[in-house]
Amino acid sequence: MDRAGFGHTVVEYDIEVEYVATRYQRRAGSARCDTGAFSVAAAQSVRSFHRGFKDYYPTPLVALQRLADSLGITRLWVKDESRRFGLDAFKVLGASHAVGRFVGQQLGLELEQISFDFLRLPQTRARLGGRVFVTASDGNHGRAVAWAARQLGQKAVVFLPRNVSAARVAHIRKLGAEARVTDGNFDESVRLAAETAAQHGWVLLQDTAWEGYEQVPLWVMQGYLTLFAEAIEQLGPERPTHVLIQAGVGSLGAALRAYLREQYGDSGPFFAVVEPKNAACFYQSAKTGDGAPKTVTGALETIMAGLAAGEPSTLAWRILRDYSDGFFACSDGVAAKGMQLLGRPLPGDAAVVSGESGAVTTGVVACLCHDAALRGLREKIQLNAQSKVLLFSTEGATDPDMYRKIMSR
Ligand SMILES: Cc1ncc(COP(=O)(O)O)c(C=O)c1O
Repeated sequence: MDRAGFGHTVVEYDIEVEYVATRYQRRAGSARCDTGAFSVAAAQSVRSFHRGFKDYYPTPLVALQRLADSLGITRLWVKDESRRFGLDAFKVLGASHAVGRFVGQQLGLELEQISFDFLRLPQTRARLGGRVFVTASDGNHGRAVAWAARQLGQKAVVFLPRNVSAARVAHIRKLGAEARVTDGNFDESVRLAAETAAQHGWVLLQDTAWEGYEQVPLWVMQGYLTLFAEAIEQLGPERPTHVLIQAGVGSLGAALRAYLREQYGDSGPFFAVVEPKNAACFYQSAKTGDGAPKTVTGALETIMAGLAAGEPSTLAWRILRDYSDGFFACSDGVAAKGMQLLGRPLPGDAAVVSGESGAVTTGVVACLCHDAALRGLREKIQLNAQSKVLLFSTEGATDPDMYRKIMSR
C-alpha cells in the first residue's frame, strides 16, 4: 500500500494493476483499420508546422539508467512533456495543429502555407472573422485550446467537469478563455460543448471523435505526431521493445500506435494502454472481446484528471482495438508511485517533473518489476533483463497543489 499526504489528512492509495490481453477476433477476411493518416511523411509535415512556432524545441527524451538497472531492465526512456510551449503538457501539439488545419480549410490553404506568424496576423483574423472556439476538457486540452485561440486573437470557451481543480480552471482563464464548470463528468461536458457549439455556430475543437465528428479529432491526433517523431529521432539506432501509453479518450495512444506501425511495420514493440481503474473504458472494451467500444459512467473519480474519460473516441478505439497487445487498469497509487520515482530520481538519473496522468506508465512498469504478485504477468509480456521500455510523461505539475502533496510524502 502506498500513501500520499493531503494536508493534514493522509489518503492511502492502494496499488492495483489489472491487465487484459487483446482478445478480439475479427471475422475471417476483414482487414485491420488503416494507419496511413499517421505515416512518417505526415509526421514530417506536422513537425515542420510546429517548428515554425516561436517556442518550439524538441522536449527531452530522458534515459533513466539507474532506474532501469533497479527494475532489472536494459533501458528506460521517458519523453518529458513538462515544458511543451510553456504549457506543461503535450496537448498543445494537437490543438495548435487542429487550429492550423481549420484556418487552412477556411481560407483554402495547405498546412505548408500556414505559419505561426501567419496565424497571428491581424489580416488572418480579419479574413476568418470573429470565431469562438469551444471544447470540453479535464484541464490540459482546454488550456491548449485557450492558448491556440489566443494566438489567433479569437475567443475560446472551455467546459470542464464538476470535479476539476481550481488550478486547472485558473490556467485556462489566465489565457483569456471563458471556463464553464459543469455539473457533469468529462463525457457530459463534451456533450454540452457540442450542443452549445451547434446552437451558437461556434467551432467545436474536441479531442475525441464520435459518429459524424471525426475530422477535428483526427487533426488533433495528427498534431501529436511531432512528439512521436521527436522521440524516434532521439532514440537514434535504439529500438524499444515495450511501449506503454496512458489513455483518456485514447487519441494520444491511438496516434502513437498508428505511427509506430507506420514506422516499424507489423514487427513493432509490445504496446499497451494504461488507464485509471475508475475510467478504464478501453480496458472494459477489450475485456468483452466483441470489438465494440464500452462506456464507463459515473463520477470517474481518480487523481489522474487527464485520463478521467468514460467514452472511447471512435477513431482511437478502432486503432487500439486492432493493434494493441493489451490494456492495463490501475489504481491512483500507481500514478503516485510513478510521480515519486520520476520526481525523486536515483543518484545519477535526471529528475522528471511528472503529474498524475503523466507518471502512471512509469508506476505500472515499476509495479510489474517490483511486485512478486505480478511476476506471472511480467513473464507473459516478456518484460525482462533484455527489455527497452519507452514511456511518455505527458504532463508536468499541471496541478501544483496536488503535485506538492503527493511528492511531500
Ligand atoms: C497529461 C495527459 N496525459 C494523457 C492524456 C490522454 O490523452 P487522450 O485523452 O488522448 O487519451 C491526457 C488527456 O487529456 C492528458 O491530459
